[in-house]
Amino acid sequence: MNKAQRRPLIAGNWKMNLAEPVVLEAIETADKTNVDVVICVPSIALYQLDFIASKAKMSIGAQDVSAHRDGAYTGEVSGLMLAHTGADYCIVGHSERRNYHGETNLVIAEKVRRVLECSLSPILCVGETFEERERNIDFDIVSLQLRSALNAYNTKVFESIVVAYEPVWAIGTGKSASAEQAEEMCEFIRADIKAFAGLGASRRARILYGGSMDDKNAAELLAQPNIDGGLIGGASLDAAKFAEIIETANRG
Ligand code: PGA
Repeated sequence: MNKAQRRPLIAGNWKMNLAEPVVLEAIETADKTNVDVVICVPSIALYQLDFIASKAKMSIGAQDVSAHRDGAYTGEVSGLMLAHTGADYCIVGHSERRNYHGETNLVIAEKVRRVLECSLSPILCVGETFEERERNIDFDIVSLQLRSALNAYNTKVFESIVVAYEPVWAIGTGKSASAEQAEEMCEFIRADIKAFAGLGASRRARILYGGSMDDKNAAELLAQPNIDGGLIGGASLDAAKFAEIIETANRG
């Protein structure tokens, strides 16, 4: 299975923002393309937006999930609850969760498990800080993040697993990784998946790039052989920019 056999995926990450006007335009654009499109919204908005998107090709996703199945965990939202809203995807291990909420690789592995248990697709975020890149430990960091979350799964499960390579220094900074830097790490991620989960898994897994992707740089990033799509923060709050990125992915 080469890139042409994996469906491109454009995922929006609204973070703690609401941008309803983006939804209708994204639905219309997604309907005209062969691109999987998902918008990951604050969990409070999942029911409402899934109702709007339920008859469309576009999917709705969450941005986080509890590491616990159910029980006395005040403020938490379980995987089953997310599944009941009609969500199809859930971001796990975003660097903002790792940095501001102390999420460790161990907690993130539990969250991936909860998401898969409920038949949702995890979008597992991995990526190094600027300092880690300077110290030349970026590949080790990404490999550890990847293996600790995914080494328990077989080939079949990788059909629904999405990995997003998001260098922390590129997120929200307006300074995207170059296409070469992004491809180098995404190629490494695919090779690493092959090493711990086998060739079939590495061919099935969709790998996204995220970090200041916008309507201007999307074409070059999405043309790379190991980049199957994008995880888009800032530009997913702008209907025209997000639609343009979907169309770019559709052009291949
Ligand atoms: P950005 O965010 O596109 O605003 O850099 C990406 C992300 O955090 O997922």
